[in-house]
Amino acid sequence: MTLNKNNLQDNKNCIILASGNGSNALNIINYFLTSKKNKGINSINIVAVVSNVATAPVIEKVKKLTTFIPVFVIPFNNSSERAIFESELEKIIINYNIGLIVLAGFMKVLSKEFVAKFPYKIINIHPSLLPSFKGKDAIKKAYDYGVKYTGVTIHYVTEEVDSGPIILQEVVKIEESDNILSLEAKIHKVEHEIYPIALEMLANKTHKV
Ligand code: GAR
Repeated sequence: MTLNKNNLQDNKNCIILASGNGSNALNIINYFLTSKKNKGINSINIVAVVSNVATAPVIEKVKKLTTFIPVFVIPFNNSSERAIFESELEKIIINYNIGLIVLAGFMKVLSKEFVAKFPYKIINIHPSLLPSFKGKDAIKKAYDYGVKYTGVTIHYVTEEVDSGPIILQEVVKIEESDNILSLEAKIHKVEHEIYPIALEMLANKTHKV
């Protein structure tokens, strides 16, 4: 089968990649474990979680939440570990028949070669209104810049960082009374609202890119 953005979501098996706290990973897992929509034939099926950081809180959180979803740790802390990480990840993707690779607070850049192997199969969440404030610390960059509106973007991962086609965006207004902590909280709330919805849109092919 030729992969393109229309047919790839026939396979709903999904792997989540996370590097840190894991609030988005947990939220997505909870959503698809508990949602009534999970009973629908088009629902996403979270089958594994991978973290590149051995001490990341997401690892214990997922293990505590469910024993049904295996959690793999594949060290990838610096660029010299990227090749081994990607080769091990690819084995898991094949073993678990993965159709969708969901980056949820995954703070490393995948190689162009890896991304090219999975066109329209890798999804990322970014805490700004792309194309503004790409890269790390996007919430702080927007706050420091003084924009009045920022937000959250769900997009396909392409070879250029934070530049793939946008699936879903939501605006967050920065009020005069906001500080960086309150803004972060607002962004995370929106992230938790829209990431599961974006995945459902992909599963049901109701997104337009
Ligand atoms: C989220 O805000 C996510 O958008 C961001 O990292 C945070 C992870 O939080 N991702 C990026 O900045 C990617 N460039 P979490 O670990 O609690 O889900």
